[in-house]
Amino acid sequence: RLFSSASSSTLTHGDAASAHVDGDGVVDVNPPRGTRDFPPEEMRLRTWLFDQFREVSRLMAFEEVDFPVLESEALFIRKAGEEITQQLYNFEDKGGRRVVLRPEITPSLARLVIKQGKSVSLPLKWFTIGQCWRYERMTRGRRREHYQWNMDIFGVPKVQAEAELLQAIVLLFQRLGIPSSDVGIRVSSRKVLQAVLNMYSIPEHLFTEVCVIVDKLGKLTREEIEKELMSTGLSSEAVQGIIEVLSLKSLSKLEEVLGSGVEAVADLKKLFSFAEQYGYADWICFDASVVRGLAYYTGIVFEAFDREGKLRAICGGGRYDRLLSTFGSEDIPACGFGFGDAVIVELLKEKGLLPDMPRQIDDIVFPLDEELEGPASSIASSLRKKGRAVDLVEDKRLKWVFKHAERINASRLILVGNSEWERGMVRVKILSTREEFEVKAGELE
Ligand code: HAM
Repeated sequence: RLFSSASSSTLTHGDAASAHVDGDGVVDVNPPRGTRDFPPEEMRLRTWLFDQFREVSRLMAFEEVDFPVLESEALFIRKAGEEITQQLYNFEDKGGRRVVLRPEITPSLARLVIKQGKSVSLPLKWFTIGQCWRYERMTRGRRREHYQWNMDIFGVPKVQAEAELLQAIVLLFQRLGIPSSDVGIRVSSRKVLQAVLNMYSIPEHLFTEVCVIVDKLGKLTREEIEKELMSTGLSSEAVQGIIEVLSLKSLSKLEEVLGSGVEAVADLKKLFSFAEQYGYADWICFDASVVRGLAYYTGIVFEAFDREGKLRAICGGGRYDRLLSTFGSEDIPACGFGFGDAVIVELLKEKGLLPDMPRQIDDIVFPLDEELEGPASSIASSLRKKGRAVDLVEDKRLKWVFKHAERINASRLILVGNSEWERGMVRVKILSTREEFEVKAGELE
């Protein structure tokens, strides 16, 4: 059973049974349900994807930061009924402290900004790539751990910041070879809902709760949403008003309904005009139904999606100008996004855009005789110091070595044999051309 369990550990699959030790002391080789192993091929893919995240962040002049995966539970206790707070991997550590495996990174970012206090100069542009944990019901592209690339800007109150974030997302798609005909970014603002609530004189304290409920529009039926909204104390007139506005898909219609003096309309118009200037207007569209499920957003919100509608959100983010005060600090305007590793890989697979990533080794050094293992090590060592990736192979047949060279995509095979070595020479075989020659060991490049 140990080896027959089908462990599918690709970047997006791997919904295997949870790990346990059975009565015979045999360990289930699958990782815990919803988590992944990264064998070499998967790891190469992950590294490649993270390199793309890092490169876009570099192009956008963001600095990399990192945080512990284990955080204080207090950072994630929010009372708006968000799904994320019900999916916490939380427990008490041996010191009696309540901790969580973080479900997202934004609260940690906020914590560090507060901790650094006046020593940071604003605006601050940070990115990070890290693992997040959510006890989710698993669906395609949704799992219990995922890696998230986050880009966040602190200290810019205007929509220029959101415009920069959207460019980063579009740059990433472009680098991955995904055109705007395959993906788009839906954009709205929580201020749209705020304006509707104002129209019906709904008290401020209900705002977050209403946002969290309305975010479930795609998942629950309209009736269920209406019922939840009514249970917060809203009038049925207000509920209908909210639902109607959320169905709007054009900015001009929104302006008609809310009036042009409303901040939401002004922000969105500005953002769409920036999109023209940046040259990514094709990628974004206004959609009032985007509200996002996290409590802390206050302004522009956005989510990237595949146009065929087969997958869950590829990434999501928005403005959260009041998160710091919920941690007892002074607020700093902020916005950012989180971009997971799972949905994008599903999409790349679907579109045939996953790169072919074989191993790449420069040289294989192989002593033909046990006595030549010492000189072979010395040759491998000197080539490595020159920057070549060298696989030193011993105790194998020559036939195996040739096959191995093909498998690992080596460029050269360096054979250390007695007759050549006596003269201080080695045999070099260029694997792509099958060309063979002798070289002085010290002159190998
Ligand atoms: P989020 O929408 O909860 O936002 O997650 C962001 C992205 O992380 C999702 O769009 C998806 O790509 C990925 N993701 C989330 N949960 C899972 C899961 N269970 N399995 C696979 N992928 C997942 C946030 O987390 C915000 N903190 C983002 C943010 C940063 N907002 C401002 N700054």
